[in-house]
Amino acid sequence: MDRAERVAIAKRILEFNDRDIDEMGDISWETDIGRFTDKARFELEKQEFFLKRPQLIAYTADFPEPGDYYATEIVSKPILLVRGKDGKAKAFLNACRHRGVKLAEGCGNSKGFSCPYHGWTYGNDGALLSVPSRAAFEPEQLAERGLIELPLAEKHGVVLVHPQPSGMVDWDEFFGPEMGGIIADYDLEDFRLVGEYRAPARINWKHAVDGGLEGYHVPYLHPTTVGPGTLRQFMHLDFGLHQTLVSPMKQILDLKNIPEEEWPETLPYGFTNAIFPNTVVGGSKHIMFFQRSEPGAEPGTCTYIFRTYGPHKGATEETRAMAQYMTDLLMKTALEEDMTIQSSAQIQMEAGAVPSIVLGKREVNLIRMHQNHDRLIGHDVAAALNKSGEFAEAAE
Ligand code: FES
Ligand SMILES: [Fe+2]
Repeated sequence: MDRAERVAIAKRILEFNDRDIDEMGDISWETDIGRFTDKARFELEKQEFFLKRPQLIAYTADFPEPGDYYATEIVSKPILLVRGKDGKAKAFLNACRHRGVKLAEGCGNSKGFSCPYHGWTYGNDGALLSVPSRAAFEPEQLAERGLIELPLAEKHGVVLVHPQPSGMVDWDEFFGPEMGGIIADYDLEDFRLVGEYRAPARINWKHAVDGGLEGYHVPYLHPTTVGPGTLRQFMHLDFGLHQTLVSPMKQILDLKNIPEEEWPETLPYGFTNAIFPNTVVGGSKHIMFFQRSEPGAEPGTCTYIFRTYGPHKGATEETRAMAQYMTDLLMKTALEEDMTIQSSAQIQMEAGAVPSIVLGKREVNLIRMHQNHDRLIGHDVAAALNKSGEFAEAAE
């Protein structure tokens, strides 16, 4: 995004602030809760949104050096990301080709991988290197037993993987020019991991994305964390399947007293980018974050992944302290505030207490995202709401 576009966003925020109004979409929307609770829809989403499309599953910073590896997942498919001696990233299914055991957990640096079950070993390039008692197998049975490689594209510090070996990944096509430009501007190659969280969560995966798409909740849910520093004039950018929420910091008001030519290079607002289907990335030159909510076994469960990264090249004690401070703040906000409240919504929905939800014009990015979902799977909201009308009568 060029300077003129960034300045235009700041001016729009200031104009809305002057007029004491919020940015709003054209429509508000009542919609069904099956998108959070219906098992058949949930399974369809896994297939259509996750297993047939490339996914943003890591930053370069998750395995930056030759020999580094990082074990993660797409839905429940275990993925092993490895950086070879040549610095090139590869993705494999994280499963031994003998009888399927997972080869690596977490992250680290290694010349290869050894299966804990019967000791088969693999190189960083996925090749099967050694098999104890090799004579127990016919040679042709071992000829094609390297790790199964998945298509991967890495650029501007961001790693995309397709969960099918026969899939296609095109980085530029995935992001499109505008979102690709926003990602490039972060200089993510220069960051390194600071904080990490990965655990089961009692939410549908979409609640975690919804939380990053609107600022309507910020003063109420985050009154002591990220709320106080944030102005209420959030802006909403639409990039097709991806959306961006612009969160202005209160210092942006200082720009009113400064001629535009003298505005700083980094303007006082941040982007939260929801990357289809479930990755949320954003931050600033001080701290970057990465969030994914991998669908679990049931609609109301997911594995919640939240990671933070600080600047690396030219890092000082001061930048490291800032990255740690921001990590603590973001972890508290995400885990103790956002996720707790999202779980509450999920549990009320499953308890039969919520016939429908209504999204307002300040939740414009949520409306766009959920309508994109419905379009992709041919979901009929009117029919679903009719059904929930019957539900409401039955409950009376
Ligand atoms: S399952 Fe890996 S060596 Fe047997
Ligand atoms: Fe939040």
